[in-house]
Amino acid sequence: MQSASDFLVIGSGIAGLSFALQAADHGTVALVTKREITESATNYAQGGIASVFSEEDTFESHMEDTIVAGAGICHEDVVKMVVEEGPGVIRTLIEWGVNFTTRGNTYDLTREGGHSKRRILHADDLTGREIERALVTAVFEHPNIEVYENHTAIDLIVESKIVKRQLERNRCFGAYVLDVESNRVKTFPAKITLLASGGAGKVYLYTCNPDVASGDGVAMAYRAGAKIANMEFMQFHPTTLYHPQAKSFLISESVRGEGAILRRRDGTPFMEKYHKLKDLAPRDVVARAIDNEMKTYGDDCVYLDITHKDADYIKSRFPNIYRTCLKFGLDMTLEPLPVVPAAHYLCGGVASDLNGESDIRHLYAIGEVAFTGLHGANRLASNSLLEAAVFAGRSYRHSLEQLKSVRFEIPEIPEWDAGTAIDSDEMVVVSQNWDEVRRFMWNYVGIVRSNKRLERALNRINLIQEEIAEYYWNFKVTSDLIELRNVATVAELIVLCAMQRKESRGLHYNIDYPERDDVNWKRDTLIQKQLF
Ligand code: SIN
Repeated sequence: MQSASDFLVIGSGIAGLSFALQAADHGTVALVTKREITESATNYAQGGIASVFSEEDTFESHMEDTIVAGAGICHEDVVKMVVEEGPGVIRTLIEWGVNFTTRGNTYDLTREGGHSKRRILHADDLTGREIERALVTAVFEHPNIEVYENHTAIDLIVESKIVKRQLERNRCFGAYVLDVESNRVKTFPAKITLLASGGAGKVYLYTCNPDVASGDGVAMAYRAGAKIANMEFMQFHPTTLYHPQAKSFLISESVRGEGAILRRRDGTPFMEKYHKLKDLAPRDVVARAIDNEMKTYGDDCVYLDITHKDADYIKSRFPNIYRTCLKFGLDMTLEPLPVVPAAHYLCGGVASDLNGESDIRHLYAIGEVAFTGLHGANRLASNSLLEAAVFAGRSYRHSLEQLKSVRFEIPEIPEWDAGTAIDSDEMVVVSQNWDEVRRFMWNYVGIVRSNKRLERALNRINLIQEEIAEYYWNFKVTSDLIELRNVATVAELIVLCAMQRKESRGLHYNIDYPERDDVNWKRDTLIQKQLF
């Protein structure tokens, strides 16, 4: 067993790193991450971080855009708080060394879908990489932070599982973690546990998320009995590069923010048919419009055209996108880029309060793993890095108060029980189930859903869950098996929430209930596992 730390942080994107940096000034921090520390969705974020930074902009306008995108179910207290705390946390990021792109002596602000003003700070088209660079440097310099790379969290350690009965309010004491290199399961006890493990794009066949996005935090929290909310709201990014070798490379929405136009194969622009904001409509509208155009015309993709802009401007504003597309033989200054939608961001997750605490005491969930109420039924572009940074500060301050006011006693924690497990020689079962889950989630629970498709998906997931359960207890855990179990759990939660919601709203579109129903469904979907 590791010695107990004050704070256990699971995940190394903007949420986990910025929490760790603040917490480490007051206690010991163990930070575990599945691969190298930089391998997080933050590192791949292109667009930027939205906040009110110009005189033409106001908090009210940013709030209104967030609420409009959220299709009526944003929690307005959370929206107000996040928007108002935005400029402060961005200044903290700058103090930690993040260099946002400037224009003259002010920050260059770009636009994306759903924003009525220019309010997105960015670092060229590699904003996340710049944030990750600065925070990782600061984390490695901090003497109170111990970083454990290649460590995959398996399960949370909660009181009810130790005493084997339902409790009125459960408590969390850390996590069991697989050290991938030594292949040993270690116990990481902690007074405060922070889930900052990111999203779940890998539940879908096509995603622009990195491979680590397998929904581990949501699945662990669900198994531990935490409340989970709004899982039906998976955001599909409208424009990822359509190219056999590109692995769903994202073409940032800021390309449309700077004037790019979506066109059919024959060159006809089509977004004016769908929304008054045309190519800058909210993401759910654009993704569905593309899906509809592709199905109507039998095309494999649509085209994103920014060739009318000056070539030097394109190269300097989008250096990473320009270079990457060129590698695939596409020059975006000369030709429109073939694009398709792909799974991008999970708006639901572990239900957490204004301080980022879940309904399990001393378990916090922030960033994409969390459901805070900010995004409602559809996240406004570039609000997620902001949400993560704001909640990192709030959960750090709240957990510090807890450390000061509560007497923490970590009970005797049983070691991980590996049972009679032997090494697996049936890896084919893992890869087969991975493929199957991701394919039926894409086909049945994607941009457009129906009752029949959801039922089919649930039947499939039930069978796969049985097979995984049997496999899980018969063989030694591996990273792949842990991720498969989590992907299957998250798929099930998405399907169950989608089946609950008998309407279409934001990112959830069901052809059997095509209308929004504010009378019955202006609310969140909640789901919680009964442990005993
Ligand atoms: C993008 O650059 O289009 C992604 C921004 C976001 O998802 O917030």
